[in-house]
Amino acid sequence: MTILVTGGTGYIGSHTVVELHKLGQDVVILDNLSNSKLIVLDRIEQISGKRPLFIEADIRDAAALDSVFSEHDIKAVIHFAGLKAVGESVAEPLRYYDNNVAGSLRLLEAMSKAKVKNVIFSSSATVYGSPERLPIDEDCALRTTNPYGANKLQIEQMMGDLCVSDADWSVVALRYFNPVGAHESGLIGEDPKGIPNNLMPFITQVASGLRAELSVFGDDYDTPDGSGVRDYIHVVDLALGHVKALGLFTKAIGFNPINLGTGNGYSVLEMVKSFERVNEIKIPFNISPRRPGDIASCYAQPNKALTMMDWQASKGLDQMMKDAWHWQSNNPNGYE
Ligand code: NAD
Ligand code: WQD
Repeated sequence: MTILVTGGTGYIGSHTVVELHKLGQDVVILDNLSNSKLIVLDRIEQISGKRPLFIEADIRDAAALDSVFSEHDIKAVIHFAGLKAVGESVAEPLRYYDNNVAGSLRLLEAMSKAKVKNVIFSSSATVYGSPERLPIDEDCALRTTNPYGANKLQIEQMMGDLCVSDADWSVVALRYFNPVGAHESGLIGEDPKGIPNNLMPFITQVASGLRAELSVFGDDYDTPDGSGVRDYIHVVDLALGHVKALGLFTKAIGFNPINLGTGNGYSVLEMVKSFERVNEIKIPFNISPRRPGDIASCYAQPNKALTMMDWQASKGLDQMMKDAWHWQSNNPNGYE
């Protein structure tokens, strides 16, 4: 039995494939390489001793999906494939709805046809918008503030409706908080195109001299030091969350949304100080205006993941900082 991993050459997907290999699980990756590179397959093989089968295809290509399901004995799908830049989704909403929502629809249709009814979906804490309460539990109101967030919510709704229509479906929607860090080998990690949108790759690029200084977006939020607070989670912990979620298919049918976070919030300024201390590198920064659309604080109530699938994050902030820098310093230009 094989797991189909869409988007498996991407940042979170590649780390998850490594953890699946460690358990002896066979994997087929399907990715259109729109935001990843083939060399990731070599790196996965270097770490795990096993090369995943790779199919270069788009999740919107129904014929390609049908042939994957007919040629392989797929028992479940982990669905990472998607576009993920919030700003880009505001500028190009139709591309996002097509790739993310229509793509997920095609995938679910192909799964339905092949009678493969187990799926883990990469959702996001972005579905909570400006959160109703803190820490954020899975029953908080769902509201989104941009097309990317709307895509995630619509896909969740589509999956929920499917579960209502057919009790054989089991869907685990993992709502990630802020994934950071890299595999401890330094062989796989986050490889953003152009100027990073996210905090952690920006910090590591300042550390390596690629960027002059970090702009801290706002120091006047209602937080202990005025900068934004987030729940950063090590990408390997996140990958292990997917492995645990596979165990839910036998015991939890229907639609199950589950937060993957640590439950701890750290501010931007705390992140900078922590990086500086752990890696002994100074990060020059300036205080800039707030970034439009940002919220003050966002951190998880992670108990449901512990109760339902015996998962909790085990890697702390120091490990995130160390591994993020190990990846960046070994690969100053990413996978180039
Ligand atoms: P990533 O861009 O590194 O990986 C996504 C992969 O999907 C890439 O390899 C890309 O080539 C592929 N892909 C995109 N569209 C495709 C399509 N139409 N057909 C086939 N392949 C396609 O991103 P990531 O950070 O690994 O994120 C994985 C998933 O997790 C995404 O769905 C993202 O929205 C979600 N997520 C990410 C974060 C984060 O901060 N990284 C947070 C919450 C949720
Ligand atoms: C974190 C904090 C910024 C960059 C985004 C998406 C979300 C999810 C994860 C996919 C904030 C501050 C950032 C910089 C800064 N992705 N910051 N200077 O905004 O919490 O979440 O990525 O689902 O949907 O919205 O993450 O890393 O961009 O920002 O001061 O150069 O760092 O203001 O407080 P965010 P982030």
